[in-house]
Amino acid sequence: MNDRFLRACRREPVDCTPVWFMRQAGRYMEDYRALRQRYSLLQICAEPELAVAVTLQPVDLIEVDAAILFSDLLLPFTPMGLDFDFVKGEGPSIAHPIRHASDVRRLRVFDPRQALAHVLTTIRMLRCELADRVPLIGFGGAPFTMASYAIEGGPSTTYAKTKAFMYAQPEAWHDLCGRFAAVMSEYLVAQIEAGVEAVQIFDSWAGQLSRTDYREFALPYSRRIFEAIAGKGVPIIHFGVGTTAILPDLAAAGGDVIGVDWRLPLDEAWERIGADRGIQGNLDPTLLLGQPDRLFDAAADVLRRAGGRPGHVFNLGHGVLPNTPLENVQALAKHVHAWRA
Ligand code: CP3
Repeated sequence: MNDRFLRACRREPVDCTPVWFMRQAGRYMEDYRALRQRYSLLQICAEPELAVAVTLQPVDLIEVDAAILFSDLLLPFTPMGLDFDFVKGEGPSIAHPIRHASDVRRLRVFDPRQALAHVLTTIRMLRCELADRVPLIGFGGAPFTMASYAIEGGPSTTYAKTKAFMYAQPEAWHDLCGRFAAVMSEYLVAQIEAGVEAVQIFDSWAGQLSRTDYREFALPYSRRIFEAIAGKGVPIIHFGVGTTAILPDLAAAGGDVIGVDWRLPLDEAWERIGADRGIQGNLDPTLLLGQPDRLFDAAADVLRRAGGRPGHVFNLGHGVLPNTPLENVQALAKHVHAWRA
C-alpha cells in the first residue's frame, strides 16, 4: 500500500512528499466531460458505479497518493429538507434558502446510513476497487460553509445574507449551525465506518469572517464535528480559503493537518498553525494554467519552505480549475515526487 499520504498526515517520515489535488476529478478531464454529457452531477453522485469510475479517473491518470471520494459537499441538504440543484455555469441553487428561524426549525437531522446510503456504498466499492493502491479520503462541510450556501441560496462574493442572518438572528444562526454540526458528525462517522481512511473538513468560506466572528459564530460548531470524529483512527484535514488571519483558530477548532491557500508562504503559514500539526498546500491552482517553468519553480518553493519536515501534504490552495491542461497536473505530481532538498 502506498501509505505516504497517511504517514505525512501523522507527521511520520516519508520517502517523498505525498501529493493529491482538490477537485482532482472534474471538468478538466476529458473522460469526466464525456460522462457529464450523459449524466448530471447529482446523477453521478447518486449512482455508485458512476461515482466510483469518476473517483478512479485521476488515480489512473495522475501520480496522486490519495483518492478523494467523488461526491458533493451539499448532498446532505436534500435529506435535511433543502432542495437544490446545480445550474450550468452558476453552481448550486437552493430552491428555498433559509430566511427565518422557522425555516431552520423545519430542517431535519436525518440518518445518513439511510438517506445517503448510496455514498456509503460508493465508499465500500471504492475500497475494493482501490485494493490498497492509495488511501481513500472522505469529506464533509463545516457548519459555517454549509450555512452560507443554505442562506445565500448559491455562491456569493460578499456573504452579506449569511452575515446579516448571523448578526440579526443569532439564536436562529446557532440553531442552524448546531443542526449542521449534528448532521455532519453522523455523516462523517458513517463514512469512516464505511471505509474512508482520512477525512477532509471543508470550511471553504470561513476566511470571510473576522477572527472575532469566526470564534463566536463558526468555531464552536466546527469543533463539535472534530470532537465527534477524533479518535476514530483516521487523520483529519481542516481546509479553508483566505484563512491567513484565522489559522491558529482553525487549528484550535481541530484537525491533524491544516489546509492552506497560496496567500501566505507555506513556512509562515506553518508557523501560525503550530509545529504540532501537519500542513496541506499550497500552490495557487492558476499556476497550472501558465508556463511549466514557473509552475515547477513555484512548486519547488513550496517544497523548500516545507523543508523536509514531516507533516507536509502537497496540494493546491484550492481546487483544480476547469480549463487546466491534464498534462500540467500530471507533470506537477511527478515533479513533487522527484523533488529532493
Ligand atoms: O475531486 C474532488 O475534489 C472530489 C469531488 C468534490 C466535488 N465537490 C465535486 C464537484 C468535492 C470535494 C466537492 C466539494 C465541494 N462542493 C465544495 C468544497 C470545496 C471547495 O471548492 O471549496 C463546495 C463549496 C461544493 C459546492 C459546489 N459544487 C459548488 C460551489 C459547485 C460549483 C462550482 C464549480 O466549480 O462549478 C459544485 C459543483 C461540483 N462539485 C463540480 C464537481 C467536480 C463541478 C463539475 C460539474 O458541474 O460537473
